[in-house]
Amino acid sequence: MEQSDELILGIETSCDETAAAIVKNGTELIANVVSSQIESHKRFGGVVPEIASRHHVEQITIVIEEALRQGNVCFEDLSAIAVTEGPGLVGALLIGVNAAKAIALAHNLPLVAVHHIAGHIYANRLEEPMEFPLLALVVSGGHTELILMNEHGSFEIIGETRDDAAGEAYDKVARTLNLPYPGGPHIDKMAAEGEPTIDLPRAWLEADSYDFSFSGLKSAVINTLHNKKQRGEEINPNDLAASFQESVIDVLVEKTYRAAEAYGVKQVVVAGGVAANKGLRGRLQEKFDGSGIPLLIPPLWLCTDNAAMIAAAGSIEYQKGKRATMKLNGNPGLDLEDF
Ligand code: KG4
Ligand code: ZN
Repeated sequence: MEQSDELILGIETSCDETAAAIVKNGTELIANVVSSQIESHKRFGGVVPEIASRHHVEQITIVIEEALRQGNVCFEDLSAIAVTEGPGLVGALLIGVNAAKAIALAHNLPLVAVHHIAGHIYANRLEEPMEFPLLALVVSGGHTELILMNEHGSFEIIGETRDDAAGEAYDKVARTLNLPYPGGPHIDKMAAEGEPTIDLPRAWLEADSYDFSFSGLKSAVINTLHNKKQRGEEINPNDLAASFQESVIDVLVEKTYRAAEAYGVKQVVVAGGVAANKGLRGRLQEKFDGSGIPLLIPPLWLCTDNAAMIAAAGSIEYQKGKRATMKLNGNPGLDLEDF
């Protein structure tokens, strides 16, 4: 390690993963630790905020110490601490924010606040350099957005969901099929085994809109299931999963491609938990192959919540001279465009 190297410790606790990671010079991952609580939330069918906070308290010190050990780094070697300020569960965010503030104060280190979605987008920078203007398709449990970036740290939301997020729709449909939480990966697997034989709606909205809507599709799936049940008819759950997935993917892929062409972007990146979806990855690849617009999809472990992405986004904020104070708080409704 050179004296001049920038080393950022990232901390992420916005939902149900307690994570810490160290990134060197904004792009090189040297430690990555994620402690998932999924098992504890499974029996409730979703994330229980109080349980999440309690797990974060138990795990945070262990996870940070493990990241330092993995990276063979001590606090004194660090350039800054980057932490997720929001959006997320307020009680969960507070654990990470307070841990970051305590380390920054005790070791006299700069503190940098990071927007969780900026983090998801910057996961891509750990794989390849970013080229601007850039279009990001963000698809997670809480967000479905098309974001235009003209330079590092600048975010313009050109389209977003008007109701459910894509991941939320996956999880709700999964619940009606009695699949465990989180349902996205299960539907993805089932879809690969089924055929999209059931006719379901696609919400294209107005012709020039890059917005999304998934609640009508979710209701259509639930209605289809109920109707079949009432008539005593069998439905192949794999076919239903395949039909639902195709409907989601058709709209995501088409709107992303249209926006990429309209804004003349030099790169399209995909981010968030639903970017782990095999069907979506394949169809995006197909659509952009030979289009002349490079497409970047991070590996699966960088798509779901982690702290490497927070450290990577934190590096940009740090380089821009942005600093948070000891007044930093968790902000569940943090706005990306004002960030
Ligand atoms: O980004 P993320 O880890 O957490 C949020 O910030 O929301 O995303 C979690 C979401 C969940 O809704 C989960 O069901 C979904 O991502 N997800 C998937 C897949 N893997 C995770 N959805 C569809 N297909 C997958 N393979
Ligand atoms: Zn996330």
